[in-house]
This record gives sequence, C-alpha cells and structure tokens, in this order.
Amino acid sequence: MNPKDSPAQPERREFITKACALTAGVVAVAVPAAAGLFVLLDPLGRKGGAGEPVRVASLEAIPEDGVPRKFSVLATRVDAWNRTPNVPVGAVYLRRAAGGAVQAFNVVCPHAGCFVDYVDDAKHYLCPCHNSTFEADGRIKDPKSPSPRGLDELETEVREGAVWVKFRNYRAGEKDKLPA
Ligand code: FES
Repeated sequence: MNPKDSPAQPERREFITKACALTAGVVAVAVPAAAGLFVLLDPLGRKGGAGEPVRVASLEAIPEDGVPRKFSVLATRVDAWNRTPNVPVGAVYLRRAAGGAVQAFNVVCPHAGCFVDYVDDAKHYLCPCHNSTFEADGRIKDPKSPSPRGLDELETEVREGAVWVKFRNYRAGEKDKLPA
C-alpha cells in the first residue's frame, strides 16, 4: 500500500457511499415517475383514450330498422405493472345506417358530460340534464339544444360478424370534436 494513499481512504469511502446513496435515490424517484408517465400517456390507461378497436357487439344484436341500441365498451387496461382485460371504459349506441353501415356514438353528451338516453317513442336521443336532443344519426335535433355539437361518432368496423369500435372520449362544451 502506498502510504500517501492512506489519509485519502476514508474520504474515498465516504464519496463512494454518498454516490451509491444518490444513485439509489435517483432510481427510487425515477422508476415510479417513469411508471406514472407511462400510465398517463398510455391510450387505454386513460379512460378517454383511443386504443385499438374493441369488439362491442355481434352484428345481429343491432336492430335492422336503424333504432340505436346501447352497449358497454370493455377494453384491456394496461398500466406499468398490470394488464387487466374486460374493464368498462364507456358505452356507445350502435345503429344501422342506410346501406347497412354501422354507426357508433359515444353516450356522453357533448354539452357537459351527462349520459344521453334514446327515447323510442320520440325516435331521438334526449339528454336528461339540460334537454339537448339528437337525431338517431347523432345530429342535433332541436336547435335550442345547449349542446355545441352533435353526438360524438366513433370509428367502427365490422369483422367476423361483430362490430368493433375505436372508443374514445371527447371534450365537453367545445364546438369542435377535440380528444379528451
Ligand atoms: S349535459 Fe347534456 S344538455 Fe347539458
């Protein structure tokens, strides 16, 4: 051992101890922060996020006469640690439009976020909160409706006899359809 090194040993040991403690501290903070960021940015981790299309209903479950029917949307929620299948993320009305295409509407009213009902007798959607009304195809019916836009239509595809929907939520109270 070089005698000149001896006085420096305790300082070096102290430096290494502090460096290790600092590294452990950084890891302890950075890992949960990164996990939080992942959850925040993950599409289906957020309730309103659009992910891959999810199977919502069989095609034959949708009336052929254009009357909408409400379905829950279940999706796989993924966060940093878990992957949970069949988590309810919202609901949609599905209806057959002219020509057989399937339309999907988010059940959330674009005015302030209440859930709209479909009134069979009146053949329109009604929001119970402030009485906005919407045609079966999602357009605003009564011009006095406070909703700034029609119901939010979602992308659909029909595959293997089932309807798949790209579910997402949009901001309430805006004239334009802006992702939530
Ligand atoms: S929340 Fe639907 S009309 Fe106000």
